[in-house]
Amino acid sequence: MTAPIIRTLPELRKLTAPWQRAGARIGVVPTMGALHDGHLSLVQAAKEHCDHVIVTIFVNPKQFNNPDDLKNYPRTEEADARKLARFGVDALWVPDGAQMYPEHFATNISVQGLTDVMEGAERPGHFDGVATVVTKLFTQTQATDAFFGEKDYQQFLVVRRMAADLDLPITVHPCPTIRDIDGLALSSRNLLLSDRARTTAPRLIEEMEALSQGVANGESFATLRDAAEKRLLAAGFTDVEYLSIHAQDDLSSLQAPTRPARLFAAAWLAGVRLIDNIAI
Ligand code: PAF
Repeated sequence: MTAPIIRTLPELRKLTAPWQRAGARIGVVPTMGALHDGHLSLVQAAKEHCDHVIVTIFVNPKQFNNPDDLKNYPRTEEADARKLARFGVDALWVPDGAQMYPEHFATNISVQGLTDVMEGAERPGHFDGVATVVTKLFTQTQATDAFFGEKDYQQFLVVRRMAADLDLPITVHPCPTIRDIDGLALSSRNLLLSDRARTTAPRLIEEMEALSQGVANGESFATLRDAAEKRLLAAGFTDVEYLSIHAQDDLSSLQAPTRPARLFAAAWLAGVRLIDNIAI
C-alpha cells in the first residue's frame, strides 16, 4: 500500500501527536526524492529501529549554490511513492516551498568548522541550507531517530553536530554507502549521466581504492593523488575538485591516515558532479 502523502504541517502534527503521546520511536529519512536503493536502505534501517517511519521529500532550494543544478535536479514523486510501497512507511512528508519557507522566513542555521573543507569550501552556503532544512524536518516530524547515508559523510557529521549543539532530542544514525555492481556510489544525480558517462563514472571509486591501497603500502599520498587525478582527467573527467584525506571525526586535513580517516573525492564528469568517500 502506498504511504499517505502529507503536504501541510497541521496534517503532519495530527499524525505524529498520538505517536508522541505513546512515547513511540519516530524515524525520519530526509531525502530530496529521486529515490534509489541507497535511500531505500535508509528506510529499511528506520523500519528496523523505529515504531513509525516518515520519509521526507523536499528539493531544498537553500542548499543549491548553482541555479542550473536546482533546475535539473530529478523530480520523480510518483515513482518515489511506488518504490516506498513495499516498506510500509507511515507517511511521505512532501511540503512545498511556501510551507517550508513562508514569506518573512529569516532564520539560518550555520555549523562552523566541519564546513570549512570539501563541500563547504566548494559550495558556499550549501551546508547552511542543509542544516536549516534538516533542523526544520526534525522539528516538523518530531522524529526521535534520523537516518543518513555515509555517501554524504560530511553532511552526516554536520547534521549530527547541529542536532547535538541545538539539544534536539534525536539520534542521527549513519548508514553505509550503497553501490552499483560496478562500484559507483548510488546517487540521485547518477540519473543525469549519459550512457557513455555512466560507463566512465566507476573510474572514480577505482582510483580511490587504488590510492587507498597505495597509501596502505606506504607510498606517498601526494604522489599517488597527482597520478590518480591525471588518470581521471585522461578518462574523461573534466575537473577533480578534491581528492583528500580527512580525519573521520572532525575532518581535519591529513597527509596520511595517521588516525581514523577517510578518503574523499568530488569530480565532474559530463556536467555531473560526483562525490564519494571510503575509509582509509
Ligand atoms: O542528502 C540530501 O538528500 C539532502 O541534503 C537532505 C539531507 C535531504 C536535506 O535537504
